[in-house]
Amino acid sequence: MRLTVNGGPVERELPREATLLHLLRNDLQLNGPKYGCGLGQCGACMVLIDGVAARACVIPARGVEGRSITTLEGLGDAARPHPVQQAFIDCQAAQCGYCLNGMIVATVALLARTPAPSDDDARAALSHNLCRCGTHVEILAAVQRAAVLMAAARLASVPPSPSPSPAPAATA
Ligand code: FES
Ligand code: FES
Repeated sequence: MRLTVNGGPVERELPREATLLHLLRNDLQLNGPKYGCGLGQCGACMVLIDGVAARACVIPARGVEGRSITTLEGLGDAARPHPVQQAFIDCQAAQCGYCLNGMIVATVALLARTPAPSDDDARAALSHNLCRCGTHVEILAAVQRAAVLMAAARLASVPPSPSPSPAPAATA
């Protein structure tokens, strides 16, 4: 099967029962997505499939033939974190950190469709991502901080408008 992972082509032969999470973690050593429940219930394994957040533990690897997968590693790294990753660091939103992959991926998907979410929007978007440590207050703060950082990044990427042409010199 062929697919794109974090912008690069991947080709693998996999057993029929292999999940997308198996492919990412076991074959490609992408350990950002975590194995939590394995039942599609906790959100620890989330990735983006063509930009949409999905639970990799319950998706057959063969079901994503030809699709584009983005994992936590594909968003950014320690040297150049994605604004959402930076926001979660700024807000110290991790305790054990196991849920953060899913929280960050779900937040990236949320901000793509709702750039300025309310706390209720964030609660709804993350309601099926479980955090057993209970850092929910910091996570909600991180979502709001991420929205601010994303807006700033968008502004910084807008090319400056051309300066107006000088007015023609007045003639007598
Ligand atoms: S490990 Fe996939 S939802 Fe829990
Ligand atoms: S920080 Fe530990 S599960 Fe969320």
